[in-house]
Amino acid sequence: MTRRWKTIHPRVKGLLHGGDYNPDQWLDSPDVINEDFLLMELAHANTFSVNIFGWSAIEPEEGVYRFEWLDRIMDRIAERGGHAILATPSGARPAWLSEKYPEVLRVGANRVRNLHGQRHNHCYTSPVYRQKTARLNRMLAERYKDHPALILWHVSNEYGGECHCDLCQEAFRNWLKQQYDHDLAKLNHAWWTGFWSHTFSEWSQIESPAPHGEDQVHGLNLDWKRFVTSQTIAFYNNEVKPLKEITPDIEVTTNFMGSYPLMKPDTGLNYEEFAKAVDVVSWDSYPAWHNDWQSTASLAKDVAFVNDLYRSLKDGRPFLIMESTPSQVNWHEINKAKRAGMHKLSTVQSVAHGSDSILYFQWRKSRGSSEKFHGAVIDHVGHEHTRVFADVAEVGELLGKLPEISGTTVKAEVAIMFDWETEWALADAQGFGKNKKYIDTCQEHYRVFWEAGIPVDVITPDKPVNTYKLVIAPMLYMIREGFAEKMERYAEQGGTFVTTYMSGIVDRHDLVFSGGFPGPLKPLLGIWAEEVDSLYPKEVRHFVTSEGVRYQSHDYCELIHAVDAEVLARFDSDFYEGQPAVTVNRRGAGQAYYIASRNEARFHDDFYARLMKELNMAPPHAIQFPKGVSVQARTDGETDYIFVMNFTEERQTVKLDQDYRNLDSGHSIHGNVELQPYGILILKPIS
Ligand code: GLA
Ligand code: ZN
Repeated sequence: MTRRWKTIHPRVKGLLHGGDYNPDQWLDSPDVINEDFLLMELAHANTFSVNIFGWSAIEPEEGVYRFEWLDRIMDRIAERGGHAILATPSGARPAWLSEKYPEVLRVGANRVRNLHGQRHNHCYTSPVYRQKTARLNRMLAERYKDHPALILWHVSNEYGGECHCDLCQEAFRNWLKQQYDHDLAKLNHAWWTGFWSHTFSEWSQIESPAPHGEDQVHGLNLDWKRFVTSQTIAFYNNEVKPLKEITPDIEVTTNFMGSYPLMKPDTGLNYEEFAKAVDVVSWDSYPAWHNDWQSTASLAKDVAFVNDLYRSLKDGRPFLIMESTPSQVNWHEINKAKRAGMHKLSTVQSVAHGSDSILYFQWRKSRGSSEKFHGAVIDHVGHEHTRVFADVAEVGELLGKLPEISGTTVKAEVAIMFDWETEWALADAQGFGKNKKYIDTCQEHYRVFWEAGIPVDVITPDKPVNTYKLVIAPMLYMIREGFAEKMERYAEQGGTFVTTYMSGIVDRHDLVFSGGFPGPLKPLLGIWAEEVDSLYPKEVRHFVTSEGVRYQSHDYCELIHAVDAEVLARFDSDFYEGQPAVTVNRRGAGQAYYIASRNEARFHDDFYARLMKELNMAPPHAIQFPKGVSVQARTDGETDYIFVMNFTEERQTVKLDQDYRNLDSGHSIHGNVELQPYGILILKPIS
């Protein structure tokens, strides 16, 4: 049976190509804007996100509106058959607004109010800000509801950060009252406030975390982060309300950040929650290609993981790359230009994992301010005769040949679990040192499948699991209510579950489970864990499997006891010599594995190779390919689309064991095919 997801709008027929367009910076230069529209043709660009930072251009004074420029831009986009992703401009405010209503400005953790300036510098609680943004959104929706360019709402920009003003403190206390049924004793218990005399006797004593020190009440920290996510979504919903009322058929998104929440574990929003409030997930992807600490293939695997995570947030619905750079950014430590071939390779990678768009930040470089040297399709030189423009045009032309890929998705038999709240709680946990590396660990388990060309979903713990043959939850430190029971049912019915050291340690309040680890997962895993031994960076330990194969561990070795589980490997050194290192517990038709230490890559290679074989998991294509090449597949259930990507600096040969159509050249190919460094192939099987 074929199944395609609908596109974001009936007018959208294929993949989107284009990006953030800020003509509001060029309103006194009509020639520049004319040139923009000419160059859009040459770049094969069909979609533009407009008005993202347009507030002071559409409302230069309070109550004085100037929509004419935006009308004209929308019309011109429509005239050439293009699409507009129309933004609500709440990401940055005009000076008059901050001047007249200082409450809209954000207050830092030090309780000092920010001055006007910057962007993303507003309070999510302020009634004035909510009212002003909702009003403006209503006007935008009324004005453009029937506009032939409008395909999608881009609500605000990269929501993030937090505000500690009095309004937010009050809202936090009210939110807590809801969570704890107005029962302060319940809250005191959940936060374990008997520790260091933290007990609260009045709700008014509760405040957001202070900026100093890490020795804070962990339950408070966790609830504050949850509140910040919830308040941000409430602000977003307030923005969306008039849009849904006036344009019920136009879908709504907001651009999530790629690396920010994933690389700074103790900040950011919980996108698992936020995803529920958007119609379609979109995100901004800025990997540091060509960096000096990681091979291209290793970074590609990390980026692949994030793509798979964002696709899985909406159960496989294709997502949008809302921003990416055509060349370099201006905010990495070192801002490298993309080497020849990398632009095409990196954009094709997003499509391979489920993106239905390649959109850039930005169309034209600003002449002033902090982003004047950030990559753009049109550089300061102003014409199309640049390397970057040629790269963009080439991608535009390629995407134009792939309309049938839009709406297809990835079908995975294996899922890796990633949990934002585990990440937050682990970041707070003192005692495991600085090596926790939760995301890196998930990505290391993911690597084996990525290298094998086996599609993976990266899911959050609440998602259904029954369609997967294998579910892997590395370091699942926090266990939610009902999770253990769900995974028990999964195993009973034939599923294979894998988890590791440092799993099942705290409940949703960050309270440690009594009665041994991994808490509620003990019956499923058939073990109990007593201690976690941390190792210095240069220290290693070893364990030996029952077949006599020896592997190396580092960072963490957990001391576990097999209760019902079968022991597959045992440590052979230190005081835990002889204790289990890997176990399996057979449950019903399925099984649950426990890996007690952080291990070398070779262990993951062998362990998962065996599982893949046992579970009959094979790549959905007939292609043999070397390390460093990634092969990914999208499908509509009947037709597969195969993406072959060389993430190495060398030529590579792949072997196609059946006939394929090369969707770029239109030719059929089979047998040995040579890929250039960073070379790609997009293939469709010929049956
Ligand atoms: C973010 C923002 C954009 C721009 C880019 C630069 O993604 O949303 O407005 O600042 O970063 O990389
Ligand atoms: Zn506030």
